[in-house]
Amino acid sequence: MKKYNVAILGATGAVGREFIKLIEERNFPYNELKLLASERSAGKEIEVAGKKYTVEEARPDSFKEIQIALFAGGSISKTLAPEAVKFGAVVIDNSSAFRMDPEVPLVVPEVNPEAIKQHRGIIANPNCSTIIMVMALKPIYDSVKIKRVVVSTYQAVSGAGKEAIDELTDQVEAVMEERPVKARVLPSASLDKHYQIAFNLIPHIDIFVDGDYTKEEMKMVNETHKILNDPSIGISATTVRVPVYRAHSESINLELDGPLSPPEAKELLAKFPGVIVQDNPAEMIYPMPLLASGHDEVFVGRIREDKSVKHGLNMWVVGDQIRKGAALNAVQIAEYMIHQNLI
Ligand SMILES: NC(=O)c1ccc[n+]([C@@H]2O[C@H](COP(=O)([O-])OP(=O)(O)OC[C@H]3O[C@@H](n4cnc5c(N)ncnc54)[C@H](OP(=O)(O)O)[C@@H]3O)[C@@H](O)[C@H]2O)c1
Repeated sequence: MKKYNVAILGATGAVGREFIKLIEERNFPYNELKLLASERSAGKEIEVAGKKYTVEEARPDSFKEIQIALFAGGSISKTLAPEAVKFGAVVIDNSSAFRMDPEVPLVVPEVNPEAIKQHRGIIANPNCSTIIMVMALKPIYDSVKIKRVVVSTYQAVSGAGKEAIDELTDQVEAVMEERPVKARVLPSASLDKHYQIAFNLIPHIDIFVDGDYTKEEMKMVNETHKILNDPSIGISATTVRVPVYRAHSESINLELDGPLSPPEAKELLAKFPGVIVQDNPAEMIYPMPLLASGHDEVFVGRIREDKSVKHGLNMWVVGDQIRKGAALNAVQIAEYMIHQNLI
Protein backbone atom coordinates (compact mmCIF):
# COMPACT_ATOMS: atom_id res chain seq x y z
CA MET A 1 0.00 0.00 0.00
CA LYS A 2 1.22 3.48 -0.85
CA LYS A 3 2.40 5.54 2.12
CA TYR A 4 2.10 9.28 2.57
CA ASN A 5 4.08 12.02 4.24
CA VAL A 6 1.77 13.40 6.90
CA ALA A 7 1.88 16.58 8.99
CA ILE A 8 -0.24 17.14 12.09
CA LEU A 9 -0.65 20.81 12.95
CA GLY A 10 -1.67 21.36 16.59
CA ALA A 11 -0.13 18.01 17.57
CA THR A 12 0.09 19.00 21.25
CA GLY A 13 -3.60 19.93 21.55
CA ALA A 14 -6.74 17.96 22.39
CA VAL A 15 -7.57 17.17 18.74
CA GLY A 16 -3.91 16.79 17.69
CA ARG A 17 -3.30 14.15 20.38
CA GLU A 18 -6.34 12.27 19.11
CA PHE A 19 -5.00 12.41 15.55
CA ILE A 20 -1.88 10.67 16.84
CA LYS A 21 -3.91 7.96 18.64
CA LEU A 22 -6.01 7.39 15.52
CA ILE A 23 -3.16 7.04 13.06
CA GLU A 24 -1.62 4.48 15.45
CA GLU A 25 -4.90 2.58 16.00
CA ARG A 26 -5.98 2.56 12.38
CA ASN A 27 -2.54 1.80 10.91
CA PHE A 28 -2.77 4.93 8.82
CA PRO A 29 -0.33 4.53 5.91
CA TYR A 30 2.22 7.22 6.77
CA ASN A 31 5.85 7.38 5.81
CA GLU A 32 7.29 10.65 7.17
CA LEU A 33 5.40 12.20 10.10
CA LYS A 34 5.80 15.84 11.08
CA LEU A 35 4.36 17.12 14.37
CA LEU A 36 3.75 20.87 14.39
CA ALA A 37 2.55 23.32 17.03
CA SER A 38 3.31 26.87 18.14
CA GLU A 39 6.74 28.04 19.23
CA ARG A 40 5.64 27.31 22.85
CA SER A 41 5.81 23.57 22.20
CA ALA A 42 8.73 23.44 19.78
CA GLY A 43 11.27 20.89 21.03
CA LYS A 44 8.77 18.76 23.02
CA GLU A 45 8.96 15.04 22.30
CA ILE A 46 5.91 12.91 21.48
CA GLU A 47 6.01 9.14 20.94
CA VAL A 48 4.07 7.75 18.01
CA ALA A 49 3.96 3.97 17.48
CA GLY A 50 7.09 3.52 19.60
CA LYS A 51 9.11 6.21 17.82
CA LYS A 52 9.95 9.61 19.30
CA TYR A 53 9.18 12.73 17.27
CA THR A 54 10.22 16.27 18.12
CA VAL A 55 7.51 18.90 17.82
CA GLU A 56 8.47 21.70 15.43
CA GLU A 57 7.15 25.24 15.26
CA ALA A 58 4.69 25.48 12.36
CA ARG A 59 5.94 27.79 9.63
CA PRO A 60 4.87 28.41 6.04
CA ASP A 61 7.69 26.15 4.78
CA SER A 62 6.88 23.28 7.18
CA PHE A 63 4.82 21.51 4.50
CA LYS A 64 7.53 20.81 1.92
CA GLU A 65 7.13 17.19 0.70
CA ILE A 66 3.95 16.74 2.80
CA GLN A 67 1.02 15.05 1.03
CA ILE A 68 -1.59 15.00 3.80
CA ALA A 69 -1.82 17.83 6.35
CA LEU A 70 -4.20 17.31 9.27
CA PHE A 71 -4.87 20.73 10.81
CA ALA A 72 -5.99 21.30 14.42
CA GLY A 73 -4.14 24.49 15.28
CA GLY A 74 -7.06 26.94 15.42
CA SER A 75 -7.09 30.23 13.51
CA ILE A 76 -3.53 29.79 12.20
CA SER A 77 -5.18 27.58 9.52
CA LYS A 78 -6.11 30.71 7.64
CA THR A 79 -2.49 31.55 6.87
CA LEU A 80 -0.88 28.09 6.89
CA ALA A 81 -3.43 26.04 4.90
CA PRO A 82 -2.83 27.96 1.63
CA GLU A 83 0.94 27.56 2.20
CA ALA A 84 0.58 23.78 2.61
CA VAL A 85 -1.53 23.64 -0.56
CA LYS A 86 1.23 25.50 -2.45
CA PHE A 87 3.53 22.58 -1.61
CA GLY A 88 0.96 20.15 -3.03
CA ALA A 89 -0.51 18.92 0.26
CA VAL A 90 -4.19 18.18 0.80
CA VAL A 91 -5.23 20.01 3.97
CA ILE A 92 -8.04 18.63 6.12
CA ASP A 93 -8.85 21.49 8.45
CA ASN A 94 -10.62 21.40 11.82
CA SER A 95 -10.92 25.15 12.24
CA SER A 96 -13.88 27.23 11.08
CA ALA A 97 -11.68 29.26 8.70
CA PHE A 98 -12.85 27.68 5.43
CA ARG A 99 -16.07 25.83 6.29
CA MET A 100 -18.48 28.22 4.60
CA ASP A 101 -16.16 29.02 1.65
CA PRO A 102 -18.17 27.89 -1.41
CA GLU A 103 -14.97 26.50 -2.98
CA VAL A 104 -14.16 24.32 0.04
CA PRO A 105 -16.01 21.03 0.58
CA LEU A 106 -17.44 20.58 4.09
CA VAL A 107 -17.53 16.85 4.63
CA VAL A 108 -18.81 14.10 6.90
CA PRO A 109 -17.77 10.96 5.00
CA GLU A 110 -20.92 8.93 5.88
CA VAL A 111 -23.14 11.85 4.83
CA ASN A 112 -21.71 13.70 1.78
CA PRO A 113 -18.51 11.96 0.59
CA GLU A 114 -19.24 13.03 -3.00
CA ALA A 115 -18.33 16.64 -2.04
CA ILE A 116 -14.67 15.62 -1.52
CA LYS A 117 -14.04 15.44 -5.27
CA GLN A 118 -14.63 19.21 -5.62
CA HIS A 119 -11.65 20.08 -3.44
CA ARG A 120 -8.90 22.46 -4.52
CA GLY A 121 -6.47 21.51 -1.79
CA ILE A 122 -8.47 22.27 1.34
CA ILE A 123 -11.27 20.16 2.80
CA ALA A 124 -13.08 21.45 5.89
CA ASN A 125 -14.14 19.31 8.82
CA PRO A 126 -17.46 20.61 10.16
CA ASN A 127 -18.03 21.93 13.68
CA CYS A 128 -18.15 19.09 16.24
CA SER A 129 -21.80 19.57 17.27
CA THR A 130 -22.79 19.77 13.61
CA ILE A 131 -21.05 16.49 12.73
CA ILE A 132 -22.77 14.67 15.61
CA MET A 133 -26.17 16.10 14.64
CA VAL A 134 -25.98 15.42 10.88
CA MET A 135 -24.97 11.80 11.53
CA ALA A 136 -28.38 11.35 13.19
CA LEU A 137 -30.31 13.54 10.71
CA LYS A 138 -29.04 12.03 7.45
CA PRO A 139 -30.78 8.60 7.49
CA ILE A 140 -34.05 10.27 8.49
CA TYR A 141 -33.65 13.08 5.94
CA ASP A 142 -33.07 10.55 3.15
CA SER A 143 -36.31 8.77 4.03
CA VAL A 144 -38.67 11.64 4.97
CA LYS A 145 -37.53 15.21 4.36
CA ILE A 146 -36.92 17.32 7.46
CA LYS A 147 -38.86 20.59 7.71
CA ARG A 148 -37.51 21.89 10.99
CA VAL A 149 -34.89 21.06 13.63
CA VAL A 150 -34.79 22.46 17.17
CA VAL A 151 -31.57 21.44 18.89
CA SER A 152 -30.10 22.14 22.33
CA THR A 153 -26.57 20.99 23.02
CA TYR A 154 -24.80 19.90 26.20
CA GLN A 155 -21.16 20.36 25.19
CA ALA A 156 -18.15 18.95 27.02
CA VAL A 157 -15.34 21.22 28.19
CA SER A 158 -12.78 19.43 25.98
CA GLY A 159 -14.57 21.04 23.05
CA ALA A 160 -12.81 24.24 24.13
CA GLY A 161 -9.37 22.58 24.10
CA LYS A 162 -6.82 21.33 26.59
CA GLU A 163 -6.92 24.47 28.79
CA ALA A 164 -10.65 24.06 29.42
CA ILE A 165 -10.12 20.43 30.51
CA ASP A 166 -7.60 21.59 33.15
CA GLU A 167 -9.92 24.40 34.18
CA LEU A 168 -12.75 21.99 35.08
CA THR A 169 -10.38 19.83 37.17
CA ASP A 170 -8.87 22.84 38.97
CA GLN A 171 -12.29 24.31 39.74
CA VAL A 172 -13.76 21.03 41.03
CA GLU A 173 -10.74 20.64 43.35
CA ALA A 174 -11.07 24.26 44.51
CA VAL A 175 -14.80 23.86 45.27
CA MET A 176 -14.24 20.59 47.16
CA GLU A 177 -11.40 22.12 49.18
CA GLU A 178 -13.43 25.30 49.80
CA ARG A 179 -10.80 27.47 48.07
CA PRO A 180 -11.69 30.44 45.81
CA VAL A 181 -12.52 29.30 42.26
CA LYS A 182 -10.54 30.83 39.40
CA ALA A 183 -12.19 31.12 35.96
CA ARG A 184 -9.89 32.12 33.09
CA VAL A 185 -10.85 30.01 30.03
CA LEU A 186 -14.62 29.53 29.63
CA PRO A 187 -16.81 30.54 27.92
CA SER A 188 -13.82 31.40 25.71
CA ALA A 189 -10.19 32.26 26.45
CA SER A 190 -10.43 35.11 23.93
CA LEU A 191 -13.06 36.97 26.03
CA ASP A 192 -12.34 39.35 28.92
CA LYS A 193 -14.99 37.89 31.21
CA HIS A 194 -15.07 34.28 32.44
CA TYR A 195 -17.47 32.08 34.42
CA GLN A 196 -17.08 29.02 36.61
CA ILE A 197 -18.00 25.80 34.79
CA ALA A 198 -17.66 23.39 37.75
CA PHE A 199 -21.18 22.66 39.10
CA ASN A 200 -22.58 25.14 36.53
CA LEU A 201 -23.75 25.42 32.90
CA ILE A 202 -22.79 28.25 30.53
CA PRO A 203 -25.27 28.99 27.70
CA HIS A 204 -22.59 30.71 25.62
CA ILE A 205 -20.15 29.01 23.20
CA ASP A 206 -17.96 31.12 20.89
CA ILE A 207 -18.92 34.80 20.43
CA PHE A 208 -22.33 36.47 20.12
CA VAL A 209 -23.40 37.39 16.59
CA ASP A 210 -26.56 38.82 14.96
CA GLY A 211 -29.86 38.35 16.73
CA ASP A 212 -28.12 37.38 20.01
CA TYR A 213 -27.31 33.90 18.74
CA THR A 214 -23.80 32.59 19.33
CA LYS A 215 -21.42 31.77 16.49
CA GLU A 216 -21.54 28.11 17.59
CA GLU A 217 -25.33 28.12 17.14
CA MET A 218 -25.09 29.68 13.70
CA LYS A 219 -22.38 27.17 12.70
CA MET A 220 -24.89 24.39 13.42
CA VAL A 221 -27.47 26.12 11.20
CA ASN A 222 -25.27 27.13 8.27
CA GLU A 223 -23.03 24.06 8.18
CA THR A 224 -26.00 21.65 8.33
CA HIS A 225 -27.54 23.45 5.34
CA LYS A 226 -24.26 23.14 3.41
CA ILE A 227 -23.62 19.46 4.27
CA LEU A 228 -27.19 18.33 3.49
CA ASN A 229 -27.28 20.73 0.53
CA ASP A 230 -30.69 21.94 1.65
CA PRO A 231 -31.02 25.51 2.96
CA SER A 232 -34.81 25.07 3.24
CA ILE A 233 -34.55 23.18 6.56
CA GLY A 234 -35.54 25.45 9.45
CA ILE A 235 -32.93 25.07 12.20
CA SER A 236 -32.87 26.67 15.63
CA ALA A 237 -29.97 25.91 17.98
CA THR A 238 -29.08 26.68 21.61
CA THR A 239 -25.55 25.64 22.56
CA VAL A 240 -24.56 25.12 26.19
CA ARG A 241 -21.26 24.21 27.87
CA VAL A 242 -21.66 21.62 30.64
CA PRO A 243 -19.21 20.29 33.26
CA VAL A 244 -18.53 17.05 31.38
CA TYR A 245 -14.99 16.24 30.27
CA ARG A 246 -15.69 14.59 26.98
CA ALA A 247 -18.49 13.82 24.45
CA HIS A 248 -21.22 16.24 23.41
CA SER A 249 -24.94 15.49 23.91
CA GLU A 250 -27.79 16.98 21.90
CA SER A 251 -31.54 17.06 22.44
CA ILE A 252 -33.00 17.15 18.93
CA ASN A 253 -36.62 17.84 18.03
CA LEU A 254 -37.65 17.25 14.42
CA GLU A 255 -40.65 18.22 12.36
CA LEU A 256 -40.75 15.90 9.36
CA ASP A 257 -42.41 16.26 5.97
CA GLY A 258 -44.31 12.99 6.37
CA PRO A 259 -45.01 10.23 8.85
CA LEU A 260 -42.17 8.23 10.42
CA SER A 261 -42.88 6.14 13.50
CA PRO A 262 -40.25 5.78 16.26
CA PRO A 263 -39.67 2.07 15.33
CA GLU A 264 -39.10 3.10 11.69
CA ALA A 265 -36.72 5.87 12.76
CA LYS A 266 -34.81 3.38 14.94
CA GLU A 267 -34.47 0.99 12.02
CA LEU A 268 -33.15 3.72 9.69
CA LEU A 269 -30.68 4.95 12.31
CA ALA A 270 -29.49 1.43 13.21
CA LYS A 271 -28.65 0.73 9.55
CA PHE A 272 -26.66 3.94 9.10
CA PRO A 273 -22.86 3.49 9.24
CA GLY A 274 -21.29 5.06 12.30
CA VAL A 275 -24.56 5.29 14.27
CA ILE A 276 -25.56 3.01 17.16
CA VAL A 277 -29.11 3.04 18.51
CA GLN A 278 -29.11 2.79 22.30
CA ASP A 279 -32.76 2.96 23.16
CA ASN A 280 -34.50 0.73 25.66
CA PRO A 281 -36.28 2.74 28.35
CA ALA A 282 -37.47 -0.42 30.14
CA GLU A 283 -33.83 -1.41 30.75
CA MET A 284 -32.67 2.20 31.29
CA ILE A 285 -30.61 2.09 28.10
CA TYR A 286 -29.89 5.47 26.53
CA PRO A 287 -26.75 7.32 25.37
CA MET A 288 -24.64 9.17 27.93
CA PRO A 289 -21.39 11.11 27.46
CA LEU A 290 -19.43 8.92 29.88
CA LEU A 291 -20.34 5.83 27.85
CA ALA A 292 -19.72 7.48 24.46
CA SER A 293 -16.25 8.83 25.37
CA GLY A 294 -13.47 7.20 23.40
CA HIS A 295 -15.88 5.61 20.91
CA ASP A 296 -16.03 6.24 17.18
CA GLU A 297 -19.81 5.99 16.79
CA VAL A 298 -22.58 8.48 17.38
CA PHE A 299 -25.19 7.09 19.79
CA VAL A 300 -28.92 7.80 19.45
CA GLY A 301 -31.64 7.07 21.99
CA ARG A 302 -34.83 8.41 23.64
CA ILE A 303 -36.43 8.20 20.17
CA ARG A 304 -40.09 9.09 20.57
CA GLU A 305 -42.99 10.79 18.87
CA ASP A 306 -43.52 14.49 19.54
CA LYS A 307 -47.29 14.64 19.69
CA SER A 308 -47.32 18.46 19.99
CA VAL A 309 -46.71 18.83 16.25
CA LYS A 310 -47.63 16.95 13.02
CA HIS A 311 -44.91 14.38 12.18
CA GLY A 312 -42.79 15.32 15.20
CA LEU A 313 -39.92 13.20 16.50
CA ASN A 314 -37.60 13.64 19.48
CA MET A 315 -34.20 12.07 20.00
CA TRP A 316 -31.15 12.31 22.25
CA VAL A 317 -27.83 12.09 20.44
CA VAL A 318 -24.36 11.70 21.99
CA GLY A 319 -20.94 11.53 20.34
CA ASP A 320 -17.29 11.90 21.29
CA GLN A 321 -16.59 15.29 19.79
CA ILE A 322 -12.81 14.87 19.81
CA ARG A 323 -13.17 11.61 17.85
CA LYS A 324 -16.11 11.72 15.41
CA GLY A 325 -16.58 15.45 15.98
CA ALA A 326 -13.01 16.26 14.98
CA ALA A 327 -10.00 13.95 14.56
CA LEU A 328 -11.75 10.76 13.43
CA ASN A 329 -13.89 12.58 10.86
CA ALA A 330 -10.75 14.15 9.36
CA VAL A 331 -8.86 10.84 9.31
CA GLN A 332 -11.89 9.18 7.65
CA ILE A 333 -11.80 11.88 4.95
CA ALA A 334 -8.12 11.12 4.32
CA GLU A 335 -8.79 7.35 4.26
CA TYR A 336 -11.67 7.84 1.82
CA MET A 337 -9.39 9.83 -0.49
CA ILE A 338 -6.72 7.14 -0.31
CA HIS A 339 -9.20 4.34 -1.08
CA GLN A 340 -10.75 6.29 -3.96
CA ASN A 341 -7.31 7.18 -5.38
CA LEU A 342 -8.05 10.87 -4.91
CA ILE A 343 -4.66 11.55 -3.37
N1 LIG B 1 -11.61 20.09 20.97
C1 LIG B 1 -12.61 19.74 20.19
O1 LIG B 1 -13.49 18.96 20.59
C2 LIG B 1 -12.70 20.25 18.78
C3 LIG B 1 -13.70 19.72 17.96
C4 LIG B 1 -13.81 20.18 16.65
C5 LIG B 1 -12.94 21.13 16.19
N2 LIG B 1 -11.99 21.64 17.02
C6 LIG B 1 -11.08 22.63 16.45
O2 LIG B 1 -9.78 22.05 16.36
C7 LIG B 1 -8.78 23.04 16.56
C8 LIG B 1 -7.89 22.62 17.72
O3 LIG B 1 -8.68 22.52 18.89
P1 LIG B 1 -8.16 21.85 20.23
O4 LIG B 1 -9.37 21.66 21.05
O5 LIG B 1 -7.26 20.70 19.95
O6 LIG B 1 -7.32 23.06 20.88
P2 LIG B 1 -6.12 22.99 21.95
O7 LIG B 1 -6.25 21.79 22.81
O8 LIG B 1 -6.12 24.32 22.60
O9 LIG B 1 -4.82 22.83 21.05
C9 LIG B 1 -4.44 23.83 20.13
C10 LIG B 1 -3.25 23.34 19.33
O10 LIG B 1 -2.95 24.31 18.33
C11 LIG B 1 -1.60 24.73 18.49
N3 LIG B 1 -1.48 26.15 18.14
C12 LIG B 1 -2.10 27.20 18.71
N4 LIG B 1 -1.71 28.34 18.12
C13 LIG B 1 -0.82 28.00 17.16
C14 LIG B 1 -0.04 28.73 16.22
N5 LIG B 1 -0.12 30.06 16.13
N6 LIG B 1 0.78 28.05 15.39
C15 LIG B 1 0.86 26.71 15.45
N7 LIG B 1 0.15 25.95 16.33
C16 LIG B 1 -0.69 26.60 17.16
C17 LIG B 1 -1.30 24.50 19.97
O11 LIG B 1 0.10 24.42 20.15
P3 LIG B 1 0.82 24.75 21.57
O12 LIG B 1 0.76 23.49 22.38
O13 LIG B 1 2.19 25.10 21.14
O14 LIG B 1 0.05 25.88 22.19
C18 LIG B 1 -2.00 23.16 20.17
O15 LIG B 1 -1.23 22.11 19.64
C19 LIG B 1 -9.55 24.36 16.78
O16 LIG B 1 -9.69 25.02 15.56
C20 LIG B 1 -10.90 23.88 17.29
O17 LIG B 1 -11.92 24.81 17.05
C21 LIG B 1 -11.84 21.21 18.29
